[in-house]
Amino acid sequence: MVSNQPLFTPYRMGNLDLPNRIVMAPLTRMRAQSHDCEQRASAGLIITEATETSPEGLGWADTPGLWTKEQVRGWRLVTDAVHAPDGRIFAQLRHTGRILPPERLGGAQPVSASKVDPGQISVTPAGRKPTVVPRALTKQEIQVTVRDLAPAARNAIEAGSDGAQILANDLYLISQFLNAATDLRKDEYGGNLANRSRFLFEVIDSVLGEVNAQRVGVKIRPIYEGVAFRANNETLPVTEYAIPKLSTYNLSHLLLVGNTTDFSGTPLEMLAGDGMFQHFRPLYKGTLIANVKMDRERGNRLIAEGLADLVAFGRPYSANPDLVQRFAESAPLAEVAGTPSTFRGPTAIPITQPINHPNTTPGAEHAKDNPPTEQGDRSRSLRHSLQSTRLRNSRTLLVAEVHSTQRAYCTGTRMTVRSGPFDARYAAL
Ligand SMILES: Cc1cc2nc3c(=O)[nH]c(=O)nc-3n(C[C@H](O)[C@H](O)[C@H](O)COP(=O)(O)O)c2cc1C
Repeated sequence: MVSNQPLFTPYRMGNLDLPNRIVMAPLTRMRAQSHDCEQRASAGLIITEATETSPEGLGWADTPGLWTKEQVRGWRLVTDAVHAPDGRIFAQLRHTGRILPPERLGGAQPVSASKVDPGQISVTPAGRKPTVVPRALTKQEIQVTVRDLAPAARNAIEAGSDGAQILANDLYLISQFLNAATDLRKDEYGGNLANRSRFLFEVIDSVLGEVNAQRVGVKIRPIYEGVAFRANNETLPVTEYAIPKLSTYNLSHLLLVGNTTDFSGTPLEMLAGDGMFQHFRPLYKGTLIANVKMDRERGNRLIAEGLADLVAFGRPYSANPDLVQRFAESAPLAEVAGTPSTFRGPTAIPITQPINHPNTTPGAEHAKDNPPTEQGDRSRSLRHSLQSTRLRNSRTLLVAEVHSTQRAYCTGTRMTVRSGPFDARYAAL
């Protein structure tokens, strides 16, 4: 796709050539389906939805994993589907830490840096439940957890991913160490900035034991709102400590999420709007991917101003599998139909319609508010149209809707819930 916009300038990220600078941000949609990713293969880079690295880190129901051979085989379907039309894909690796619901652990407490209830919700097979007070990982358990990330990264590559991204933000384990409100440890993993960052850098070292640094990225979101994770006096210092240190690793990229909270009158005020990128761009020497509330104009401007090398789009991608084409043609974007909860899950509903085309694709009309049975019928006809129609040729948008009958499509990536006591592996130390 040819365009003279900055977003369309080819870019070499690490040792990987990207045809454009448009990145699909990771979106947990609880489906990990090859056609979901294939539809978006025109992106310069796709980052997969968060993928768990061990059974102990599986804190979100129906998310994919990367610790078994079966999961590797499942992911191969996805990476092949992305590579066939010349796409590129990185697997995002996550350990959820204290977000894990106890019922997943036979009633045991989830683990974290310290005993602080994050006051969030756990997404369980039985619905959303409040998080509980976790127990603090012992130092030995930290070492096991750090080591677990390495095989998962290796598996990502074995499954055909072009690289791996370590999730170091939001509610999850790495940020539970970074955050002074959730890391109250007195040992070398708590207290000062170096100590709270130690877990992050040990994880990176561990992953780099298996995967070339040029194929490993990190996603960081310095400011996250929500109870224990609310930004505090230590938020900026720890990020100012971690980001320059990340620079020294010669990684593939740093995906930096901007701030969307009003911090007027506080030291964080300067991070509003483009402030996050203005502040951290000089502190990070490698490839910087800017994210949050981006649109075409802002993305082009950030690249032109040198504040970002690449730009990641999350919600816009959920509604616009052909985002690259729309940007190239300066076409309007489709709105996301439904609520944020419909972005995810097996009953997620169609969210797109064709541009520049009469709406002739079977089932491509909006199916908002369809009853489940109708969605099931629709999904079958759409799968047909998907199989016979390549996005890049037809420019037809396809509906990303998953019905239970389609689950086999990606069974290999789905979780097998480990039975037995959660602590068994740690206890074996
Ligand atoms: C439905 C949904 C699922 C998400 N899942 C993930 C995820 O698995 N991993 C992650 O790092 N971020 C996840 N995010 C955050 C996005 O990657 C992105 O950082 C955020 O949506 C801001 O970008 P946007 O303004 O372009 O949507 C998710 C966001 C949404 C809306």
